[in-house]
Amino acid sequence: MTIHFIGAGPGAPDLLTLRGRDLITACPVCLYAGSLVPDAILSHCPPDARVVNTAAMDLDAIIAEMQQADAAGQDVARLHSGDLSVWSAMGEQLRRLRALNIPVSVTPGVPSFAAAAAALGAELTLPELAQSVVLTRTSGRASAMPKGETLENFAATGATLAIHLSIQNLDHVTGTLIPAYGADCPVAIVYRASWPDERILRGKLGDITAQLDPAITRTALILVGPALGGESFAESCLYSASYDRRYRPLDAASPWADWSHGDD
Ligand SMILES: C[S@@+](CC[C@H](N)C(=O)[O-])C[C@H]1O[C@@H](n2cnc3c(N)ncnc32)[C@H](O)[C@@H]1O
Repeated sequence: MTIHFIGAGPGAPDLLTLRGRDLITACPVCLYAGSLVPDAILSHCPPDARVVNTAAMDLDAIIAEMQQADAAGQDVARLHSGDLSVWSAMGEQLRRLRALNIPVSVTPGVPSFAAAAAALGAELTLPELAQSVVLTRTSGRASAMPKGETLENFAATGATLAIHLSIQNLDHVTGTLIPAYGADCPVAIVYRASWPDERILRGKLGDITAQLDPAITRTALILVGPALGGESFAESCLYSASYDRRYRPLDAASPWADWSHGDD
């Protein structure tokens, strides 16, 4: 018996790994975080599966469900949105399960920042503009930010920021970032990336707040940084015809000319 934690992806039922789908199909019990995991994903559950929405349950009740399945020798598919490595509350569940000696597995999923970038048709790391992506959030009712993890500090890097769980704080976000990035810095907001009602808003730090539909109060990602700014960026060396590299030595004098081993 195993509790299988599965990243359920950003919303579209076909943005789920094959491993995740197969595990859902094989498990007689499915516990899912119903606030973000859409019903369509649940269509992979066996017809007679016990399917429980954990959105309104506390941690004790969720672990009790898992213990009950363990006692009955039933595998569990535990679904959280996006990927499990960020803001999934998997850590606290794993800690309890380890203490109870209940076996677990973890299957990654498509994170919402990747789905949002795909919706925008954007690469978040562009040569000379940004080579880092910061996955962050602002303080919420349930979670204060650790000291040092401030938007001001991240803004000082100039990296692309993927700001989660913060659409309700958009005013604060833009006001905090303008001193570092400037009011003309490009911003994109993606609401429910990959869902049928996905919406995209593009603007600048100085004008995006005025454009936001006040009905959008959750499930949106704020992407900020020069990499969101269109077509004026340099080409990478990767495919440059004049760049000597391991996979494409320029001539017989290249240090890569007789290369035959290696993994980069
Ligand atoms: C509790 S976190 C879950 C993050 C998730 N584990 C991931 O990998 O993206 C929820 C936040 O992720 C973002 N989010 C999740 N799904 C999204 C989607 N389909 N479109 C846009 N943002 C999404 C929003 O910022 C939302 O407030």
